[in-house]
Amino acid sequence: MGGDSPEREVSLASGAAVAEAFREGGYEASPVDVTFTGRFPARPIWDVLNSELLEADVWFLCLHGGFGENGGLQALLEEKGVPYTGSGPLASMLAMDKWMSKKLFMSEGIPVPDGMLVGPGEDGRILEEIGLPCVVKPRSQGSTVGLSVVRCEGEIKKGMEFAGAYGDVLAERFITGRDLTVAILGEEALPAVEVHPKHEVYDYTCKYTPGMSEYTVPAELPEETADALKEHALKAFKVLGCRDFGRVDFRMDTEGGTYCLEVNTLPGMTSTSLVPKAARAAGISFPELVERIARMAVERR
Ligand SMILES: Nc1ncnc2c1ncn2[C@@H]1O[C@H](COP(=O)(O)OP(=O)(O)O)[C@@H](O)[C@H]1O
Ligand SMILES: [Mg+2]
Repeated sequence: MGGDSPEREVSLASGAAVAEAFREGGYEASPVDVTFTGRFPARPIWDVLNSELLEADVWFLCLHGGFGENGGLQALLEEKGVPYTGSGPLASMLAMDKWMSKKLFMSEGIPVPDGMLVGPGEDGRILEEIGLPCVVKPRSQGSTVGLSVVRCEGEIKKGMEFAGAYGDVLAERFITGRDLTVAILGEEALPAVEVHPKHEVYDYTCKYTPGMSEYTVPAELPEETADALKEHALKAFKVLGCRDFGRVDFRMDTEGGTYCLEVNTLPGMTSTSLVPKAARAAGISFPELVERIARMAVERR
């Protein structure tokens, strides 16, 4: 838990909640706050990777964003032979890349918002090929960091600079409508959750400020839509090569069409996060959820 990404604080909360859940289940758990850069007063990963912790039955990863979620850490753990939860290096890397993900989703016939990579000075292409309103966001970043909704020509440049601070920039058609997310546990899609953010998009503030979003669990949807969402979520998860658990984000337009936005390979794991909410709707308690995910990693050994 911890790490150095903008999602560090959320990760610390996930780690504390998961450790507590293990203890409730009668297991021993040692939360470890790690840094990959030395920037934070946490335990450096190179130290953790050479410690007594290598003897643990499983490393339950609660890192969000950056090196802990993008496949970097997963590659190190493979090299060390440590059993860890969640997706492997390649799937993690693909899921973090919204452009590669989009291409792969399309290859499986999963509907996605029209989109393209845009470089500096290519404002005109956005107008021609996507139109307004559109969403401008980093190709690889989480928690809605660097994302903006662009409504008029004059805002394009600002949106591109904002997203560009995090690397390559992706422009997408803005899907007017609802935010839905489907958790995956093992081979199964759990009931969809609808998020009602107070803002127009489910941004950082709405994600992490109590009271800034409401949730409907399970989402109120026609049966065919709920089934299609589950099917698309499972396909999206599989085509990236993900495993154990994850969360697939969608937007639904006013006609009921759903569009896959991304797969999160290490989604939030506080007891009020979206995956635990979906699990509860499926009759799975938080300690049970954590135990099931850990078992998948242990059994892979
Ligand atoms: N093309 C889009 N149309 C409408 N809303 C979008 C679009 N892309 C992103 N959003 C909004 O921004 C939020 C975050 O986008 P997402 O692609 O899931 O990235 P991340 O969660 O990694 O920051 C979504 O939950 C949704 O509210
Ligand atoms: Mg998202």
